[in-house]
Amino acid sequence: MEIVRRCTSGALRYRMANGQTENPVRPTAVARTDSGQILVRGDLRVETATGPRQETRATLCGCGTSANTPYCDGSGPCGSRP
Ligand code: FES
Repeated sequence: MEIVRRCTSGALRYRMANGQTENPVRPTAVARTDSGQILVRGDLRVETATGPRQETRATLCGCGTSANTPYCDGSGPCGSRP
């Protein structure tokens, strides 16, 4: 589980055998990387083109070039997928 918790993008997730999901970080934490990505951890509701998504971790695009906004897709000056 620790590897999943270290995944900054939120692409990796886990669910406990009893059905519980990952506890979000409290209070919500936001940081910008040197390459422009916005790392967010907490009890998140991310508005996407296909509707809202509940997340505990997300790497958002801070440069405006991602084709998968609001998420970073690595296409901008950030140069890498989260
Ligand atoms: S920060 Fe915009 S694509 Fe990565």
